[in-house]
Amino acid sequence: MAARRNAHAPYSKFRVGAALLTKSGRVYTGVNVENASYGLTNCAERVAVGKAVSEGHRKFQAIAVVAPSDGLSPCGACRQVLAEFGEMVVICADSRNTHRVHIHLLSELLPHTFKL
Ligand code: THU
Repeated sequence: MAARRNAHAPYSKFRVGAALLTKSGRVYTGVNVENASYGLTNCAERVAVGKAVSEGHRKFQAIAVVAPSDGLSPCGACRQVLAEFGEMVVICADSRNTHRVHIHLLSELLPHTFKL
């Protein structure tokens, strides 16, 4: 929720925050970073992954994602990017009512992940 305040979402106005928990107990946050060339937008989840990996973390316990939506769940691209790093818990919350959360395993959201 705190990270979400920094979302750059002037086009969709849909502000998303993510917090990625490493197996070592650190938290890396992310926000959506939109662009006037819409397709260049980065989702909050992928920003958090980029921050964590660039700091040397590749083992994750969970990611929490919050946005003003009851049915929020990470997009397909983010699921694939998260799955690169193995199984984790995915917690989705509505920023308008954070008592309402949906908890999944990443492997439930993206079965049969593409891997080389
Ligand atoms: N978005 C995210 O950051 N994460 C999601 O899980 C869903 C979508 C962003 C992308 C775009 O800036 C806005 O939400 C609307 O699609």
